[in-house]
Amino acid sequence: MAAYQYETHDYDVVVVGAGGAGLRATLGMAEQGLRTACVTKVFPTRSHTVAAQGGIAASLSNMGPDHWQWHMYDTVKGSDWLGDTDAMEYLAREAPKAVYELEHYGVPFSRTEEGKIYQRPFGGHTTEFGEGPPVQRTCAAADRTGHAILHTLYGQSLKQKAEFYIEYFAIDLIMSEDGVCQGVVCWKLDDGTMHVFNAKMVVLATGGYGRAYFSATSAHTCTGDGNGMVARQGLPLQDMEFVQFHPTGIYGAGCLITEGARGEGGYLTNSEGERFMERYAPTYKDLASRDVVSRCMTMEIREGRGVGPDGDHIHLHLNHLPPEALHLRLPGISESARIFAGVDVTKEPIPVLPTVHYNMGGIPTNYWGEVLNPTADDPDRIVPGLMAVGEAGCASVHGANRLGSNSLIDLVVFGRAAAIKAGQVVSAGAPNPKVNKASVDFAFDRFDGLRHANGNVGTAELRLEMQKTMQADAAVFRTDKTLAEGVTKMTAVAGKMDDIKVTDRSLIWNSDLMETLELTNLMPNALATIVGAEARKESRGAHAHEDYPDRDDANWRKHTIARVDGSKVDLSYRRVVTEPLTKEAEGGIDLKKIAPKARVY
Ligand code: FUM
Repeated sequence: MAAYQYETHDYDVVVVGAGGAGLRATLGMAEQGLRTACVTKVFPTRSHTVAAQGGIAASLSNMGPDHWQWHMYDTVKGSDWLGDTDAMEYLAREAPKAVYELEHYGVPFSRTEEGKIYQRPFGGHTTEFGEGPPVQRTCAAADRTGHAILHTLYGQSLKQKAEFYIEYFAIDLIMSEDGVCQGVVCWKLDDGTMHVFNAKMVVLATGGYGRAYFSATSAHTCTGDGNGMVARQGLPLQDMEFVQFHPTGIYGAGCLITEGARGEGGYLTNSEGERFMERYAPTYKDLASRDVVSRCMTMEIREGRGVGPDGDHIHLHLNHLPPEALHLRLPGISESARIFAGVDVTKEPIPVLPTVHYNMGGIPTNYWGEVLNPTADDPDRIVPGLMAVGEAGCASVHGANRLGSNSLIDLVVFGRAAAIKAGQVVSAGAPNPKVNKASVDFAFDRFDGLRHANGNVGTAELRLEMQKTMQADAAVFRTDKTLAEGVTKMTAVAGKMDDIKVTDRSLIWNSDLMETLELTNLMPNALATIVGAEARKESRGAHAHEDYPDRDDANWRKHTIARVDGSKVDLSYRRVVTEPLTKEAEGGIDLKKIAPKARVY
């Protein structure tokens, strides 16, 4: 057994991750007087939320008529009827409140002439239950909305005396013998010390796993660490086959060009200069839902109408927009286009390509963020002491496809919900039960095994093999053949983890070891994704299966539950929640309005 000295820390709540969801949860916990620690592997304001550009959805009606029920309808339709109705209602209803809270905390939103929060159109957001024109629902701070939110929430959390443990890498969860989460084991990256955080509630806010793919808008830190920790405890991941490709990643570099660019009037063209989205989505055109736009772009390229010397990408035009509007509303992406594509957006189109952007799947939770471990008898069974929020969690509010700007609102609505729930179930200041030593030992043994791993495959080499496999075989379009090949390849790739080689055995700033730990987290995410995709014989949202081009509600309107053990994945399924939170007679939505139907834009 590995012998590591460690320091013990006692808190009511430990939040792992300091992005938008983690900080909103931390702030909400601390405001209620819960002793709250936030542990994070990067400085809070460098979390990936900082890169969120276009905005945060809420039916404020600042730019024209809007209603929370229209937002809910759009989210249901965007999810391709895989989202859970209670969670989607909660999101749409609570969104305005959550945005006004942000405003009062100090987020510097862009403003209208009258001084209200500025809102822009985004894909898939409409009026009149999809019958009316696009709505301006996405609240923006220019095209740096995530940056503005993150800085504000960090400042407010400090004000509320939340304690931050910065550049601490969470290795594993601590679970009691009877399945209660008791804390987390961490490695402090800058001095090599070890830490055991003991808490009554652990909140995983560790973000997505975009880096399981070769080309992603996600930061290199997006390695699905919480999902990996959960999988190692035998707990499941949900709906992992649904991976969102954002239509406008910069060709070659992968950096995001916000959908807000199309919201402000930008449009896509093919090699014939045609605005091809008019053909595919006659009503909402370039503002159709992003899975739809990504597929249309891919079809144009496949049919020989891509741009560039290799005909392998698409043009995004902003050059018809007034330079002052670009300067006011889209300064960040104007700079990104110049740096990463060498393009002056006032004169030339930006070369773009659908790029991995978001994971709809994650750790299954209810709409309070409580982690679920479903069984056949009890699909809503709660794991005591454990919550998951943000991209790490799957509430499931995005179902098979997320609408743009529903991510930032998900972070703050469900970060806030987790804090509300913790306020009810955590007894502030009460002594914590002693941690399960066997669980702590498991974490240190695993850490030590990787630190001294002396196999034949380098971490970077194996990571690249995984990324290339996922990029090729779990792509925008999928077939039985590519998915079956992908499962075989990924099983072999995951098997090579046993032959990994770490060359640096030190404990201080050991990026070789940290990236190896991250790879152990990416691997179960990648496996669950491709195995879940191979099993799902239909097309729904981001899962576009060419051998099964239609949605099949009779057989497949259900959540995939994946349990990963090494290179094996065990699948089962869980019902979709179709009951709303509020009955129509009490002000809820008319369920007929959100009944499944063909999804056209
Ligand atoms: O396009 C964007 O600004 C991305 C927004 C989102 O993913 O919600």
